[in-house]
Amino acid sequence: MKALIVYDSYFGNTQKIAETIGNSIAPNNDVTVCMITSIKPEQLSGVNLLIVGSPTRSFKPTDAIKKFLNSIPSNGLKCIDVLAFDTRISAKDANSKVLKVFIKVFGYAAEPIGEKIQKKGGNLIAPPEGFFVQDTEGPLKEGELERAANWVKGRI
Ligand SMILES: Cc1cc2nc3c(=O)[nH]c(=O)nc-3n(C[C@H](O)[C@H](O)[C@H](O)COP(=O)(O)O)c2cc1C
Repeated sequence: MKALIVYDSYFGNTQKIAETIGNSIAPNNDVTVCMITSIKPEQLSGVNLLIVGSPTRSFKPTDAIKKFLNSIPSNGLKCIDVLAFDTRISAKDANSKVLKVFIKVFGYAAEPIGEKIQKKGGNLIAPPEGFFVQDTEGPLKEGELERAANWVKGRI
């Protein structure tokens, strides 16, 4: 299987999740892990599994991830299995009541990524998933890399 993992990352946490997922499926598959700034449209060609990951920024994916998703033609992901993930701060760790409410109302990045890749014809093989950072710049909470590896391994 040919898998492409596309991610954005400011502080390296989403990158670590993307690379961990890549390593977890690499032994049996042709896997490319690619930062959004380096992605070229032709890299989607022949892909059987597309995984898109973004840090949650203001309750959404980054602009670069949104632009990439918008650039995929209608039905461009037809017959392709897709997964969406983000990194995020737990509502429990948010340092104000207002922020906790905002998080509840506006959510995180993985869900809109999942919706978009399905709209482009992709076959979502698991619900969008979030991986937790301890604070804005990380690090990831303990156990999140293992959880990321298992999240994908169990699906393919
Ligand atoms: C400007 C900004 C906005 C953010 N907005 C959110 C948010 O809405 N929800 C959330 O859970 N985390 C938010 N965060 C924390 C990010 O999710 C966190 O920085 C990210 O997971 C780290 O991933 P990265 O190291 O790959 O950039 C925000 C961080 C910054 C700097």
